[in-house]
Amino acid sequence: MLNADTTDPAVLRELIAAELEAARTRTAGLTDCVEDGELTAQHSPLMSPLVWDLAHIGNQEELWLLRNVGGRDPMHPEIDPLYDAFEHPRAERPSLPLLPPDQARAYAHEVRGRVFDLLAASPLEGAPLLDAGFAFGMIAQHEQQHDETMLITHQLRKGPAVLTAPPPPPATDGPLPAEVLVPAGPFTMGTDTEPWALDNERPAHRVDLPAYWLDTTPVSNAAYQEFIADGGYRDPRWWTAEGWAHRQQAGLEAPLFWSREGGQWLRRRFGTVEPVPGDEPVLHVSWYEADAYARWAGRRLPTEAEWEKAARHDPVADRSRRYPWGDESPGPEHANLGQRHLRPAPVGGYPAGRSPYGVRQLIGDVWEWTASDFTGYPGFRVWPYKEYSEVFFGPEYKVLRGGSFAVAPVACRGTFRNWDYPVRRQIFSGFRTARDAEAD
Ligand SMILES: [Fe+2]
Repeated sequence: MLNADTTDPAVLRELIAAELEAARTRTAGLTDCVEDGELTAQHSPLMSPLVWDLAHIGNQEELWLLRNVGGRDPMHPEIDPLYDAFEHPRAERPSLPLLPPDQARAYAHEVRGRVFDLLAASPLEGAPLLDAGFAFGMIAQHEQQHDETMLITHQLRKGPAVLTAPPPPPATDGPLPAEVLVPAGPFTMGTDTEPWALDNERPAHRVDLPAYWLDTTPVSNAAYQEFIADGGYRDPRWWTAEGWAHRQQAGLEAPLFWSREGGQWLRRRFGTVEPVPGDEPVLHVSWYEADAYARWAGRRLPTEAEWEKAARHDPVADRSRRYPWGDESPGPEHANLGQRHLRPAPVGGYPAGRSPYGVRQLIGDVWEWTASDFTGYPGFRVWPYKEYSEVFFGPEYKVLRGGSFAVAPVACRGTFRNWDYPVRRQIFSGFRTARDAEAD
């Protein structure tokens, strides 16, 4: 995968082609496994029909690569408004005159063929969108992000299982300390050098933090079940006022997709009902639930800066790494990414992916809610369009970090930032907790 040292245009072209193809293979896997009727159906008002994502992927690729980079005319200007995510909210999309599945596939395929011609002829430098192949990288990330969205649709879909994957590796070296100390001091947050980083990850800037303790692993289902068993969902002491109001109004009593049968917690996972595995990170919790658990545990959610320092800071070299394990792109030994598995790995896994402070599973497995609102870093500059990040800045969105098993390596790095409403839980969200070190 691309890093800042990749400057040879021939190597860069190959990397871009491989990332675009990997994304398309995954898109096909997620959409060829169901009948057309399931592609056009809306499985949840929270999500688009899968066929919308399919054509939207092609439409964004046409817009950014063929039109903005290549200077070509629109192929089908009449369909552009249908696939503009800002023009139609998800709940409205099934009622639009969308391209049927065969036409959506043909359109995306046609765009891709022209993009490969453009790529072969592109110098991949000389304009901001072209330098280091940025726009191509952005489009590969965009398709993989929609693949994650489509995987969420699969999780919400009722009916028998259609996706399969081998289980993730077990956790073999333990027991681990419950938490690690991150000493006080400054570190570099964000990036100026990651070639395909998006605007909200920039610029790099120094942040000085007091000492804190951070959970070695994400919070497990077993630990979360203790919160439930202790009446955590019934006790307003642990919840913010908005969180408590939401809990009551939405009737929350457990993570999404959980049910209780004969004294046992079960969960539905991609069409299969199974006992909740105690050793996996808890999944499908809202920010409000994560925050309430942390308070019940006498702790708090980490800030976004605390998460990133634990994930990237190398205290010996006093520099920030691309990933917890170093600068090397993610391999299967480092992290549970890319839908290689259809579930998070047990807590304490992936020893090769640990950070210099000894923190595990920061990348992959589950998105981790942080305490922080989504805002621009000091010196933030919109790039390449304000609808990517800036329109979402503000207190209504909370930041999630680290990516999940559903996130592709190309769309995941130590600086990558995700955001969502604090009520959301159909996403692949979990969390870990922190506490101030001064309390000792
Ligand atoms: Fe999109």
